[in-house]
Amino acid sequence: MRRITVTEVSKTFTLHNQGGTKLPVLDRMSFHVDAGECVVLYGPSGCGKSTFLKMLFGNYLADQGSIEIHSEEGVVDLVRAHPHEVLTLRQQTLGFVSQFLRVIPRISTWDLVCDPLKRQGIDPTEIDERVAHMLKRLNLPESLWHLAPATFSGGEQQRVNIARSLILDYPIVLLDEPTASLDAANREVVAGLIADAGERGAALVGIFHDDTLRSHVADRLIHLEAVA
Ligand SMILES: Nc1ncnc2c1ncn2[C@@H]1O[C@H](COP(=O)(O)OP(=O)(O)OP(=O)(O)O)[C@@H](O)[C@H]1O
Ligand SMILES: [Mg+2]
Repeated sequence: MRRITVTEVSKTFTLHNQGGTKLPVLDRMSFHVDAGECVVLYGPSGCGKSTFLKMLFGNYLADQGSIEIHSEEGVVDLVRAHPHEVLTLRQQTLGFVSQFLRVIPRISTWDLVCDPLKRQGIDPTEIDERVAHMLKRLNLPESLWHLAPATFSGGEQQRVNIARSLILDYPIVLLDEPTASLDAANREVVAGLIADAGERGAALVGIFHDDTLRSHVADRLIHLEAVA
């Protein structure tokens, strides 16, 4: 059973190199996301949306509460999980579309998008078909497929990032402003990819700066308020 259950989660950052200043960001947040559901976080800039998504991916650790990830593999509480459990979750369960692509010099678009499929040991012919289909769907011209994305435009890099993060059918998908630098046509493509993930039963949590897309994809909206 796929599900995310968040219970009473809080987070305060301590800035050790700035006099130990404490920055409370999230205060006792609770919610759940079921299979096939898309829950959207919204609220003012700086209220902790990205911080929260990073906690769901195990990048940041919550100070208290629990974040249970239920999947076919069992239940893992990210607040108490061992690092190797977090890594296994990332390989098998959690897809994360970050706002920006982490550009690796000299690695081509094609290789970047193939990589998650190769790690799963998928048949090379199937890999080629799936990658070509995904890159076409995201309107990335074939002339770019064998180039490294370092010199790509913001929107092109973002589409490579989306392709890489959604090429595997992860049971849980986290999206941090995936459409921030996309045009209307490509925003539609991303909305379609999100709908497909929901239909195959993924549980999704997203942040979208664009009001229209937000209300279009959201099954439920969760409002975050600034704590400090
Ligand atoms: N690693 C960190 N160390 C210290 N403070 C951090 C860290 N990450 C985030 N913060 C602080 O936490 C607060 C929330 O940041 P976050 O990026 O989660 O906001 P957001 O809601 O995603 O904003 P935006 O809509 O602008 O993307 C900010 O005040 C930020 O300075
Ligand atoms: Mg953010």
